[in-house]
Order: sequence, then structure tokens, then C-alpha cells
Amino acid sequence: MLPVNEAARVSGAPTAILSHVSMSYDGRREVLHDIDFMLDQGEFLSIVGPSGCGKSTILRLIGRIKVLLELLGLSEFGHYYPRALSGGMRQRVALGRLLAYDPEIMLMDEPFGALDAQTKILMGYELLRIWTDYRKSVVFVTHDIEEGDRAIRPHLGHDGPARPD
Ligand SMILES: Nc1ncnc2c1ncn2[C@@H]1O[C@H](COP(=O)(O)OP(=O)(O)O)[C@@H](O)[C@H]1O
Ligand SMILES: [Mg+2]
Repeated sequence: MLPVNEAARVSGAPTAILSHVSMSYDGRREVLHDIDFMLDQGEFLSIVGPSGCGKSTILRLIGRIKVLLELLGLSEFGHYYPRALSGGMRQRVALGRLLAYDPEIMLMDEPFGALDAQTKILMGYELLRIWTDYRKSVVFVTHDIEEGDRAIRPHLGHDGPARPD
């Protein structure tokens, strides 16, 4: 797993902390080893790594500590909505529902993974807009290096795709 990418430290007290946490599902093989994790209030944080490296496990651990709401992948949401809705529309609805709960922290586990490339980019911007407007803490998990990079780059002031207003 790549190191946790830190996007922007805004201010305020941490909303979620893991300190020296290891995790094993079967008591033999460690899935996570000595993980430190901190998320400040209002912080947007991407976790990028290949499939099976433990990203969802981290989210579940955070979720246990601060259970507010988890935005699951499109596959888990898909069956709630008419098939006629495009993937992007469905994700918009899912984001809207998530915000309706006014959660302190948004845990997003590969939420745009099933979308086509263009819609994925648009939804990424939508999420950034929501993050900017509502100042939620966000942990955004993806196996897609480009997507994780795109999610954090605008806030680091590096050259990145322009953000539409
Ligand atoms: N409920 C579970 N029981 C046993 N092993 C699991 C369970 N969930 C995940 N694992 C294993 O833990 C490792 C990390 O899984 P996961 O956190 O889902 O990775 P990622 O989200 O990065 O793909 C994988 O080897 C996976 O097979
Ligand atoms: Mg996963």
C-alpha cells in the first residue's frame, strides 16, 4: 500500500485516529500491520493501493470507531435504483442521500469504481465541490492511482486538471 496521501489539513480536532493498529481476520495472517491513521476535521484524504492490500479493512476499522455513515461502492447501491438511471446519476443520488444524514465523516470505498472514465472524473469534481461546500471529513479509497491523485491534487496547488466552478 502506498503511504496515505494527505490532501489538506484544514483545522480543528482529529475526527478519527488509529494508532499502532494491526488486524488479522483469521488470527494468523496480518492484513494490516502497525497502522497509524489520523484524520482532521474537514480533511480530505485519499488511500490508494492495489486490490487486497487492506483499504476496505482500514475503512471498516475507522467506521467502527466513528460510525456515522459509509458510502459503499456502486455495486452495493445499484439495486436500489432503477436500471434506467445512469451510473453517474445513481452516484449523485447516493451522494445526496449520504449528505442528508449530515455525517461528520464520509467513508467512501471505491464509490466510482464502476463508472466510465468520463463520469468518474465528473463525479470526482462533484465530490470535491461537496467537500468544499460542506467541509466534511472525507476518506476516499481507490485502487486507481490516477483517481486518487486527481482527488487530492487541486488542494496541493500542483498542476492538475482545472476545477470547474
Ligand atoms: N471478512 C473477511 N474475512 C477474511 N479475510 C478478509 C475479509 N475481508 C477481507 N479479507 C482479506 O483481507 C485482505 C485485505 O482485504 P481488503 O481490506 O478488502 O482489501 P482492499 O479493500 O484493499 O481490496 C485481503 O487479503 C482479503 O482477502
Ligand atoms: Mg476494498
